[in-house]
Amino acid sequence: MLDRICAGDIPRKHHIQLRGPGGELRYEECFTRDGFDGPYTILYHLRRPHTHRLAPAEHGWPAPEAADARALAKRHYKSGELAARGGPQIDARVPLLFNADLIAGVAFPTAEDPVYIADGDADQLIYIHRGGGVLRSVLGDLAFAQGDYVFVPRGLLHRFLPDLGTDLGTDLGTDLGTDTSGAGAQHWLWFSLAGGVHVPRQWRNEVGQLRMDAPYSHRDFKRTELVGPRDEGIRRLIVRRSGAWHGFALEDSPLDVVGWDGTVYPWAFPILSFQPRVSSVHLPPTWHGTFAARGALICSFVPRPVDFHPEAIPCPYPHSSPHCDEILFYCDGNFTSRLGVGPGSISHHPMGVPHGPHPGSYERSIGSTRTDELAVMVDTFAPLAATPAALGIEDPGYQDSFL
Ligand SMILES: [Fe+2]
Repeated sequence: MLDRICAGDIPRKHHIQLRGPGGELRYEECFTRDGFDGPYTILYHLRRPHTHRLAPAEHGWPAPEAADARALAKRHYKSGELAARGGPQIDARVPLLFNADLIAGVAFPTAEDPVYIADGDADQLIYIHRGGGVLRSVLGDLAFAQGDYVFVPRGLLHRFLPDLGTDLGTDLGTDLGTDTSGAGAQHWLWFSLAGGVHVPRQWRNEVGQLRMDAPYSHRDFKRTELVGPRDEGIRRLIVRRSGAWHGFALEDSPLDVVGWDGTVYPWAFPILSFQPRVSSVHLPPTWHGTFAARGALICSFVPRPVDFHPEAIPCPYPHSSPHCDEILFYCDGNFTSRLGVGPGSISHHPMGVPHGPHPGSYERSIGSTRTDELAVMVDTFAPLAATPAALGIEDPGYQDSFL
């Protein structure tokens, strides 16, 4: 959650009457987290927001199932090979790796969501590797672009409108290298985070403001803008609960909000706005920590100068992290420590066994002064299982490529 936003018409105090120009009473909706203990937003509707009738769901991405897998093998998944799976994102999402805290997958949406969606199970964090568009929600419109993380709070009524004419490979200011990510205009890496996602606590001061030494500031976040009450003609809502999708029919347009204020709303954060840290010697991944979640830390590796000690080894050291599974999604640039991966590649290194650079990378990095790598990394604190879809795009030679 970020700072408080106020949009449109709201009354001067919580829970008192708000009336329209003709004296019509508006209907309050308190959108809360952690029961009534956590951050919240209060919305004011033209109509009562809780008049849903049960209906078939008919949409929704599948709950992940574990495949038989070599549990401790190092893995490389070529996510671009799933690019043929189009449709609206709500149906196009492919779960690849999961545990009780999160689901990670990719999507290549080719259509707008035809229904409204509220995910009752988890926050969503989507990294837009290729593409862009608009997240339309009951709070307004949020425009997002290539290279953005897009956050959707649990339970928020929304739908995605991806740009359908976006060209591949819009330059983010890095060397895009050879793109193996697939033929679609949209290529998203998504995380469903059951325990919520938030700014790491060490980046806030005692009043909740982002600290001046945080790796980003309030100004770096794109906010949603309220675009008056409107009716898109959509009367269907689907809600995810305990992994299953449930349908509802709506009497009227749910986008009837005249005003809201609070700290719970969608936002987008451009990965290149992350301010990296550099030291004389190699810093651990925690310094790249961008967002935190229950059971996971999401890190951004962005172009930067590298370690400057005269005897520095800029390439990451081999390491054993017995408490973490590690997923790396390669976006752009030349990733210093790994061979045979390209944009759209996902590596998965399981906890319990050491991992490190590919042969020769460690030695070759000595004397380098900067890296143009762009990648999203997630460390999870519980083991991840792979789905059959993940095994279907696995690079079989990856485990032995470190010999
Ligand atoms: Fe690692």
